[in-house]
This record gives sequence, structure tokens and C-alpha cells, in this order.
Amino acid sequence: MHNMNKVQMLEFPQRGDERGHLVIVEGNKDIPFDIKRAFYIYGSDAEVVRGQHANRRSEFVLINVAGTSKVKVKDGEGNEAIYCLNRPHTGIYLPIMVWKDMYDFSSDSVLLVLASTHYDPEEYIRDYDKFVKEIQDEG
Ligand code: TYD
Repeated sequence: MHNMNKVQMLEFPQRGDERGHLVIVEGNKDIPFDIKRAFYIYGSDAEVVRGQHANRRSEFVLINVAGTSKVKVKDGEGNEAIYCLNRPHTGIYLPIMVWKDMYDFSSDSVLLVLASTHYDPEEYIRDYDKFVKEIQDEG
């Protein structure tokens, strides 16, 4: 449960006017870390499940800047929660060492991911049983 309660929805400031919407996302301000990396996911079918990993060092914020998707978060101790990403001015904060699945992508989904680290495949845990074991060992 210790990492699960750090998961939270974030709401970003909007400066929309008659010209359209503008949403502001600043590192260490609207996002609880220094942003080192951004990537985005689109063109995933509704049946696709992405993610399916935990990270030893990376924190993330996920924002559906267009369309919708869902994120299921597990703490490796039997707790899980599902979040709907369906508004461009909200995101979900994911701390280190939580298991995440992204799924139910709408056909127009563009999922922006902001990360606290540069990419390092070594800090990814892609085996769920291994993740549970590391959580128990932390214990
Ligand atoms: P993957 O981690 O499987 O994506 P998801 O989290 O959506 O399931 O990454 C897909 C591919 O992209 C994989 O070959 C690793 C590569 N990749 C990078 O090179 N840098 C990155 O920052 C990310 C997130 C992925």
C-alpha cells in the first residue's frame, strides 16, 4: 500500500480563451518532479494492453492530451486501482515501484507520458512475479 497512496490525479492550469485551450505543465510545479523525458503513445487498438511493467527509479505523469484511456495500478501487495484519463488538463502521477497497465485506448487517443529519468531499460521490471518479490524484499 505504501506506493499506492502516492498515486494521484493532477489538474493542470488552463489559460483558454476564444482562440482555444492552452494547458500548462511545468516541471517541479504542476508535475512533482523535474521532467527529463517525454514520449507519447498513439495508434493503439482498444484491445491492446501497454505498460505491464514497474520502474525502480522513474516517476511518471500520464496525460491523455487527446482521446481517452485507462490505467490500472497495482502495488504488488494485492491492492489495485483503475483511473480514467479523459480530459486534456488532467493527468495521473505514478511513483516508483508500482505496476501499471494502460488499456482501453480510444482510436483518437494520444497519451503523453512525462518521466523523471532518461530512458534506462535496466530500471524496468517487466515480470510481475519479480516485481512482487522486490516489493516483499523492500518490506
Ligand atoms: P515500452 O516500454 O514497451 O512501451 P510501453 O511502456 O508503452 O509498454 O517501449 C516500447 C519500445 O520503445 C521499447 O523497444 C523500448 C523503447 N523505448 C525507448 O527507447 N525509450 C523510451 O523512453 C521508452 C518509453 C521506450
